[in-house]
Amino acid sequence: MNLKIAILPGDGIGPEIIEQAIKAVKAVVKKYGHTLEYELGLTGATAIDQTGDPYPEKTHRLCMNADAVLFGAIGDPRFDNNPRATVRPEQGLLAMRKKLGLYANIRPVETFQSLIHKSPLRRELVEGANFVCIRELTGGIYFGEKGRKDNGNTAFDTNTYTREEIERILKLAYEFAGKRRKKLTVVDKANVLESSRLWREIAQEMAPRYLDIQTEYMFVDNAAMQIIQWPKNFDVMVTENMFGDILTDEASVITGSLGLLPSASIGIHTSVFEPIHGSYPQAAGKDIANPIATILSAAMMFEYAFNLPEEGRMIREAVAASLAEGFVTEDIATGQAWKTSQVGDWIAHYIAKHE
Ligand code: IPM
Ligand code: MG
Repeated sequence: MNLKIAILPGDGIGPEIIEQAIKAVKAVVKKYGHTLEYELGLTGATAIDQTGDPYPEKTHRLCMNADAVLFGAIGDPRFDNNPRATVRPEQGLLAMRKKLGLYANIRPVETFQSLIHKSPLRRELVEGANFVCIRELTGGIYFGEKGRKDNGNTAFDTNTYTREEIERILKLAYEFAGKRRKKLTVVDKANVLESSRLWREIAQEMAPRYLDIQTEYMFVDNAAMQIIQWPKNFDVMVTENMFGDILTDEASVITGSLGLLPSASIGIHTSVFEPIHGSYPQAAGKDIANPIATILSAAMMFEYAFNLPEEGRMIREAVAASLAEGFVTEDIATGQAWKTSQVGDWIAHYIAKHE
């Protein structure tokens, strides 16, 4: 199969971690007799510096013409501390999500046996935790009307959701739950927010169509607590854009490091695969960042975009082996810590050498 991939390294550690994912992709392509065509595109602060636009039209065309997009990270401290900046790197990521119609962000939270000691939670709470958070990605407060009034002294962001947006994400979440342990938790703030009441209303309409699936409703503050207290109780969780952003960062610590969790964003046009962590600017260029979330995102790309589960499994096996052998970066190392590039080489080598 010919795999046509657009690669957007982005900012900070983006280029370094993407390089490791490319090594893994190349190893898999070679092993299974595929061919790879890839091209790099500009995004984020890097794109602002070179073109003035964090998601230039050229990058968008590259993504539209590819079968999948592999994305690094976005964000730069030069902009973080300047609330008056008129153009920001994050706008590139949001523009890409919107223009590609990526309404569903799938964030699996899985624990690795060899890393349980790294979790801030007690072993018995974490061991075996395995759930998927499905985050709505192109609506809500991220994209609602926003602005200033009263000479700039009052600011507002609006959380708007349409029936159509809610129905399509819930449908996707139900289909996921149907393939897993058949439990769906709909997370909202229906005791306060009108938008959440529409989510709950629609979920209640849809639930009878999925009788084999148990639908549970949970307020987001309670969900934030339960993720830490009983992570094993979740199977598939679905929620709006902002709640999903916050809950998935929280959920990532269960596994021991934010550097481990991949994600897939799917929707209308080309799907995008990216780690859930940010651009970690303090580590940029130091060859210390954990490349595993990005490498696992590449595994998701094989599974979701190319329907090649065996290739995805091979990458997962190589990652699990590197974790089990302690061939890992400093964020999760207990003994010697290895460099980003060394972990990438180790994983690519494992793929080449094992069945
Ligand atoms: C994420 C990130 C982004 C988001 C930022 C960088 C805009 O935190 O993908 O979770 O808030 O969606
Ligand atoms: Mg986030």
